[in-house]
Amino acid sequence: MSEDGVNAGRRKFLTAATSVVGAAGAVGVAVPFVGSWNPSAKAKAAGAPVTANLGKLEPGQMITLEWRGKPVYVVRRTPEILAGIREVDGDVADPNSDEPQQPDYVSKDYRSIKDEFLVLLGLCTHLGCAPTYRPDVGAADLGGAKWQGGFFCPCHGSKYDMAGRVYKNVPAPLNLEVPPYSFVGDYVITVGVDQEA
Ligand code: FES
Repeated sequence: MSEDGVNAGRRKFLTAATSVVGAAGAVGVAVPFVGSWNPSAKAKAAGAPVTANLGKLEPGQMITLEWRGKPVYVVRRTPEILAGIREVDGDVADPNSDEPQQPDYVSKDYRSIKDEFLVLLGLCTHLGCAPTYRPDVGAADLGGAKWQGGFFCPCHGSKYDMAGRVYKNVPAPLNLEVPPYSFVGDYVITVGVDQEA
């Protein structure tokens, strides 16, 4: 990666957002470059793809990236989490991901390129609040024994499962959106660049 403003900006965000992002976020930039950016560099960075190394993400852990000013949630899913998704097929509004809330190249069953990694826009499809990550299976406030982990929107109570599929009978009408992304290494994703067929 080059040392241009775009990548420097990405590093700054990743470093600030989380300590688990690997090589891409670990390269520190000491110079307070933001103040010296010219407007065109800022504009370029605002729409630039974002790359992150997920290799150090713990099972079940979520990190938040930023892409085009929007939060992007990335969760490392375990086999247990994936099994839990199948448990709630009857409770979600669009179990087969029929609505176009994801690129064609993600699977319909787990809404991912690699089942292990879930990548979602962290914006509720009701009015755009950021849902809270609630991986705690059986959470009493989210349905008790039936809750298999997922996301809860604190604004008006919408619930999503661990594939970002919206539950029935909540204000949000659609599954959380899966942004365009691609794997550029075994554990390295680029958000904003489509996976090639
Ligand atoms: S914005 Fe999430 S439920 Fe309304």
